Amino acid sequence: MSVRRERLVTSPGGRVAGDIRVPGDKSISHRAAILGAVAEGATEIHGFLEGEDCLATLAAFTAMGVVIERPGPGRVRIHGVGLGGLKAPPAALDLGNSGTSMRLLSGLLAGQAFDTILIGDASLMSRPMERVAAPLRRMGADVSTNEGRPPVAIRGGHMLRGVEHRLDVPSAQVKSALLLAGIQAEGRTIVLEPGTSRDHTERMLGAFGVQVSRNEVAVAVEGRARLQAANVVVPGDFSSAAFFIVAALIAGREPLWIRDVGVNPTRTALIDILRMMGADIRTHLLTEIAGEPRADIEVRPGTLRGIVVPEALVPVAMDELPVLFAAAAVAEGDTVVTGAGELRVKESDRLTAMSQGLAALGIGVENRPDGLRIHGGSVGGGEVDSRGDHRIAMSFAILGARARAPVVIDDVQNVATSFPGFTALARSAGLRFEENA
Ligand code: S3P
Repeated sequence: MSVRRERLVTSPGGRVAGDIRVPGDKSISHRAAILGAVAEGATEIHGFLEGEDCLATLAAFTAMGVVIERPGPGRVRIHGVGLGGLKAPPAALDLGNSGTSMRLLSGLLAGQAFDTILIGDASLMSRPMERVAAPLRRMGADVSTNEGRPPVAIRGGHMLRGVEHRLDVPSAQVKSALLLAGIQAEGRTIVLEPGTSRDHTERMLGAFGVQVSRNEVAVAVEGRARLQAANVVVPGDFSSAAFFIVAALIAGREPLWIRDVGVNPTRTALIDILRMMGADIRTHLLTEIAGEPRADIEVRPGTLRGIVVPEALVPVAMDELPVLFAAAAVAEGDTVVTGAGELRVKESDRLTAMSQGLAALGIGVENRPDGLRIHGGSVGGGEVDSRGDHRIAMSFAILGARARAPVVIDDVQNVATSFPGFTALARSAGLRFEENA
């Protein structure tokens, strides 16, 4: 495996303002690709995220015999083969850094007639997979892991049966895997979660003609479903917009507008948290498309105050917590986040990555089992290790604008998994990075 470790050096003093668009939503792009591949007919996707993670999902379906065209930037046309039309891939499916691809495909492939093996990069190969494998076995699937981690080996040819699952932690990836198995099973599959997780799969199954029943705590699908091809327009990714929301708050010159961002309420808790810290963020709603609300987001610079973040908001802000920690580093007083233990099993241990990086820049931080306590202050220059984690790299890239001296961020190549063009867009909005770092 080739090791490429790129670095980024931020220059202090960048001041953000203007009018930008961020790339398409990663979660929605994955789901459009997956459902399109197993639908009947041709699915057209606009605004598809051409990041490495979503390209890994497309490559997996190409390897399983699905014809996928890419007629222009952000455009994908998938010639769906129906739920029974996928073919055995010639080799293991390599899903790179993408946990979403691995978990969602585990559910889909558990109901297929052929065997598959799912692998990924060093980070993905160390992530927990029993959380999907164990409930899939309860449905009659033959799925094994290597002591809980990938490779995920799936033996096909088992008729799945619908069962009721109660998840221990809210997880959109696990819920989605079970729903994708459930639509192929005999009978009804029900998933109950102890808290809210993003609901893009439920919304998109509806757009592909599958009946989904839901209430506050549970979601259910009937088995032996058939999916009809759909047209999907993917909104900007709120999790990518989050970096610029924080940039505008902590290093803003004038208001920043971020156009056409997905504002599904299971994704936007960061706005609520930042407002509690004193932020002025306004959302201007646009027309909803395919069940997904979208908005232009206007952010005005201002001073933030540390808070104790309500635990109920934490699961639905999980991907945005690294950049929230960056905001907390320059807020007045202490910010406390609890209930965020899941951050330890993301693309890196994000609690440790952020606490070590913040400490290296002179910020007082306490790394607790399920969260961080951050004492806001003055950020110095220094070197931080992003551990190959895209969201850690981008969080420090934003914080660098408020540092007193350059911040060197190591191991940043995986920014391209979710946010191709991040540095160019950040520069266009006013942030500064050193050339030829
Ligand atoms: C995702 C679900 C989330 C999130 C991840 C993307 C998805 O994980 O962290 O980046 O697209 O389903 P959980 O499964 O922990 O909710």
